[in-house]
Amino acid sequence: MAPSMDERFREASRRCEQAGQQHLLRFWEALDATERNALLDDIDRIDFRPIPDLIERFILRKPAHDHGSRIDPAIVDRRNESGASQAAALGRELIAAGKVAALVVAGGQGTRLGHDGPKGCLPVAPVTGKPLFQLFAEQIAAAGSRGGRALYWYIMTSPANDAATRAYFRERNFFGLDPADVLFFEQGVMPAFGFDGKILLEQRHRVALSPDGHGGTLLAMVHSGALADMARRGIEHLSYFQVDNPLVRCIDPLFVGLHAERGCDISCKVTPKANDHERVGNVVVADGRVSVIEYSDLPESLATARNADGSRRFDASNPAIHLLSRRFIENLTADPARFALPWHRAEKKVPFVDLESGRRVEPSTPNAIKLEAFIFDALPLSRTTPMLLEIDRAEEFSPVKNATGVDSLATARRDMVRRAARWLEAAGVQVPRGGDGDPSVPIEISASAAMDAGELLARRDELARIRFDGPVLIG
Ligand code: UTP
Repeated sequence: MAPSMDERFREASRRCEQAGQQHLLRFWEALDATERNALLDDIDRIDFRPIPDLIERFILRKPAHDHGSRIDPAIVDRRNESGASQAAALGRELIAAGKVAALVVAGGQGTRLGHDGPKGCLPVAPVTGKPLFQLFAEQIAAAGSRGGRALYWYIMTSPANDAATRAYFRERNFFGLDPADVLFFEQGVMPAFGFDGKILLEQRHRVALSPDGHGGTLLAMVHSGALADMARRGIEHLSYFQVDNPLVRCIDPLFVGLHAERGCDISCKVTPKANDHERVGNVVVADGRVSVIEYSDLPESLATARNADGSRRFDASNPAIHLLSRRFIENLTADPARFALPWHRAEKKVPFVDLESGRRVEPSTPNAIKLEAFIFDALPLSRTTPMLLEIDRAEEFSPVKNATGVDSLATARRDMVRRAARWLEAAGVQVPRGGDGDPSVPIEISASAAMDAGELLARRDELARIRFDGPVLIG
């Protein structure tokens, strides 16, 4: 029998009190039944056990990140090295055998972009306006059809966007995928804290909660049953990518093959940096372990260091594309109650309810601390040295983070068009270009037509007939 409202209230009070957060129920008497339920649901979502300790370590103090005493450059693999074709063949075999599934993390809030609704619904394709989710769905379908077997796709959402994401897939008929091959799962949340260690109320009946970071993926897979689902299906590797990168190769046979050949727990693609101080994560070796150091934490002497030939010494940035083996996730999370990736602390502006007046306050300066875990912090936990595959950023990475300027919808579309033009040119097509050097019309290549430049070569005859007198769609 479901517990009554009174029972739920008593349990919530007990949990809040134990963690010193009884103020979350301050306005209980003034709430109606719907509001009370909403508040209890929020409180239920919080894991209060670690909260007192987190407050001590991260909220009342500002811990410095310890990246170890010795930082060396990471050793990377390149696409054209010898053995690449064997590795790619192994990758294709594993994909065709159903051992690899895709995983997109789509639980973020997209605050910088300010888009209403899940980011994956954002129309991004330069000619058709297909949304991000559709681009990935089409790639996953195409990768499956190449191997003769439909691939499985895990989609991580958050409590805030789960219903909208599922509804969107239903409305669009799963973009042609079999719904049985798509599994949505929700990630966990973390409350926002005031500087005094008190969890903030966003409204009198709502706790200020946000998703717990893409590092939350690992535990969310355990709690949701997605990890057990992988095991049941015999899936051994997850091809992890983020929802905001329309150029990503959702499943890359070479990456899979190299990862599997080396028996890696986790692998990571890397790209050369645009400049010494680019705002990216740096993939380095810290005290002998592959790790990611945020640009703000990389000492200046290392950011500007050069090799003897003048090239940048620390030149591997993290575009957030990984392979994770199921065994690794199972090992890390064998005792879920004791597993946590490190927390990263960020000071933010979070609207809150003043506990004295009951009024909502919109702060003009940061008033709160949010804690997030990052998936790349799993790299140093790997039992085997992670494989790092260098990629060409122009081919595989152009995230939509901001509404305008760098890493925006406009730059992602531009980069999709530029890539399509390069693939066409590699197939011998003359692409007209304007004075700025960019193609003079929008061009889009759908995944069913080609997933890389090589695949486009097979359609040479058809390509010869393209007229560039308007937007070009190769689909
Ligand atoms: P970002 O770190 O860019 O965050 O996420 P964001 O939420 O999308 O955007 P901002 O920072 O609020 O502007 C990178 C990827 O990780 C996912 C996002 O959905 C995106 O695919 N992510 C992030 C999660 O799935 N969960 C999270 O808690 C955070």
